[in-house]
Amino acid sequence: MAIETLFPLAIYYEDLFEAETHQEGLVKAVLELEESGFERRNYPEMAWTGDIHGVQQIHRDPRFAWVVAQVEMQTMLYLQELGVDLEQVDLYIQRSWPIVCRPGQEVGAHCHNTAHISAVYYIVVPAGEADPGSLIFLDGLRVNEVCPGLGSENTDILTEINGFNQLEAAYAPVEGRMIIFPAKQRHAVSRNESEDLRVSLSFDIILTAKPGLAAGSHEFLTPPPAQWQAFQTSIL
Ligand SMILES: [Fe+2]
Repeated sequence: MAIETLFPLAIYYEDLFEAETHQEGLVKAVLELEESGFERRNYPEMAWTGDIHGVQQIHRDPRFAWVVAQVEMQTMLYLQELGVDLEQVDLYIQRSWPIVCRPGQEVGAHCHNTAHISAVYYIVVPAGEADPGSLIFLDGLRVNEVCPGLGSENTDILTEINGFNQLEAAYAPVEGRMIIFPAKQRHAVSRNESEDLRVSLSFDIILTAKPGLAAGSHEFLTPPPAQWQAFQTSIL
């Protein structure tokens, strides 16, 4: 017998050249932003994420210029691998923020619903045996779940967890690595079991049609923001 696997989820990664050179400056900038952000809004067992603490535009901060240029370059390479014609689209960084994950902290399950592509860059990852907090990809499609719910935790129907029925896959972080994946892909970050800080950056990217004759003619491709118009009327 044999089993073929179809429709793979593409998780792009690149270990960035010069990561070490930029590490110290990036950590310093992130910790300064954490210090100056809004008062802490989430639970102590959750990592500090800039987006809910008033720090969600690091792409406009010159201290992050190197990594922003890398996000742009790697995203274009990722899209080329997916077969996207870069001549027909424009790309925007929509939001970007740091994450500081201390020992015992994690990030709950979510997806980045306002974006098309998500990128993560690991500035610091604690070394050693303990899991410093892995990126957990959650399978929302469950294409092999022949009866809906068959693999849920309330059943003991499955004799083993394997690549065909696993509901999640853990991706261990690597210092200096950038990861890119579809923003709609649901994910979480497991607990930082190490004794040290994990520091990363998150970027949300939007893909639109390039201005021109075809811009706005496809319901699957957002028209260029220059063609949008804010409501001129108010009922308030
Ligand atoms: Fe995320």
